[in-house]
Amino acid sequence: MEITGQTKLMFVLAHPIGHVRATAILNAHFQSIGRNVAASPLHVAPEDLETVIGAIRKMRNVIGFGTTIPHKIPVMRHLDELTPNARNVGAVNFTRRDEDDRLIGHNTDGLGFVAGLKANGVDPVGKRVLQIGAGGAGRAVAFALAEAGASALRIINRDVGKAADLARNIVALYPDCDATAGPEKAEDFDIVVNTTSVGMKEDDPIPIDLGRTGPATVVADVIMSPPVTRLLAKAAERGCKTIGGKVMPDEQMGLVTAFLHV
Ligand SMILES: NC(=O)c1ccc[n+]([C@@H]2O[C@H](COP(=O)([O-])OP(=O)(O)OC[C@H]3O[C@@H](n4cnc5c(N)ncnc54)[C@H](OP(=O)(O)O)[C@@H]3O)[C@@H](O)[C@H]2O)c1
Repeated sequence: MEITGQTKLMFVLAHPIGHVRATAILNAHFQSIGRNVAASPLHVAPEDLETVIGAIRKMRNVIGFGTTIPHKIPVMRHLDELTPNARNVGAVNFTRRDEDDRLIGHNTDGLGFVAGLKANGVDPVGKRVLQIGAGGAGRAVAFALAEAGASALRIINRDVGKAADLARNIVALYPDCDATAGPEKAEDFDIVVNTTSVGMKEDDPIPIDLGRTGPATVVADVIMSPPVTRLLAKAAERGCKTIGGKVMPDEQMGLVTAFLHV
């Protein structure tokens, strides 16, 4: 595409930067919908985050920026406003720069996950979900599932205190969702989702025993690389419906475009 003075710009801030793919997905999306917007990775060390955000605030052809590891939480203290979603999750992955230089942070990770489920014919309404993980992605997915009408959410995490905190946070906001923490049998749930990073490395263990699950169970993983984790391969062997992490960024593009007022 031709980048000119008419082009609106956005950035994705990360440290390290080499693994960042979101800009390619964003650029392909903007092009596919015919928008004159370009996204570029920006390598920003943690100690420079405040300076860089201060500069972006004053750049009048910048519509916003994405944040990924390690900036998703620290970015929050430099913003003027957070959407309820970002506040609940406690992390920001996209920030909009409004014309009055105000910066508004949002989180689309969980919303993208739920949109990905729905795009694959799985509606969380009334579903019982077993979630592994209570980190950043886990919090985003849990709030989005509760918001989307999941009836029960059982959260397992290596740090059990984090799972218990997340379950308490969910119940406080969504009393109709029976959110609890602790181990459980996978076959007692409609949806099993891994939100941990366990499965990114080839020799990682499968993060949950799939027990007697079969075609009635949907097994999802937020990990994007590899596209088919050992968990998903095992689930497919058992006849479960499987959904990989790539659906999340794909489905988030529409949400990001709307949030950034592109
Ligand atoms: N598809 C997407 O669009 C998308 C978006 C965001 C993130 N992700 C992926 O989601 C994964 C998690 O990212 P995050 O941002 O949530 O990271 P995070 O905040 O650091 O959380 C990591 C999670 O993994 C657990 N964990 C890590 N190592 C473990 C181990 N050896 N054994 C058991 N549990 C372990 C952590 O448990 P503790 O709490 O006990 O440490 C925590 O629940 C990553 O693979 C990331 O790439 C995908």
